[in-house]
Amino acid sequence: MTSPIKVLFVCLGNICRSPTAEAVFTQKVIAAGAQDKILIDSAGTAGYHIGEAPDDRACEFAARRGYSMDALRARQVCTEDFDRFDYIIVMDQANLSNLQALKPKYAKAQLTLMLSYCESAAQEVPDPYYGGDQGFETVLDLLEDASDGLLNSLQKLLK
Ligand code: 4NP
Repeated sequence: MTSPIKVLFVCLGNICRSPTAEAVFTQKVIAAGAQDKILIDSAGTAGYHIGEAPDDRACEFAARRGYSMDALRARQVCTEDFDRFDYIIVMDQANLSNLQALKPKYAKAQLTLMLSYCESAAQEVPDPYYGGDQGFETVLDLLEDASDGLLNSLQKLLK
């Protein structure tokens, strides 16, 4: 058996968008029976919330759609992640710039924007942290759409 494809989702704090991406994508991978072939984690570019559970609002809105992320804990992305993961998938342009600066010259991981896998014309998953409830719904809408596209593209590699 070939080794699993390893995917790391990254946002700023690792308490709103990237744990939501981890929860949504994990559920889709399990539904497709691909949980032994695709390994998933998430991290933040900043260290503000290391060790914390995801934001309560993010958990609540995710739970309403059937996603559980209560057991996840925030961590900060590190240079070793570029060798551990095949894909590092970021939520916005600021995450992309920060990781391009951190990326070792001969890194294994491909850096991509989450919404490059999305049907929507949006380019970024907007940061919901300082906003209202609608921001968390928008994050879920975009991540569900992009997770379908990401799963499709990884399944082509697994064939
Ligand atoms: P996230 O959201 O990057 O989607 O996890 C944020 C969480 C925390 C902060 C900013 C964004 N913060 O400034 O603490």
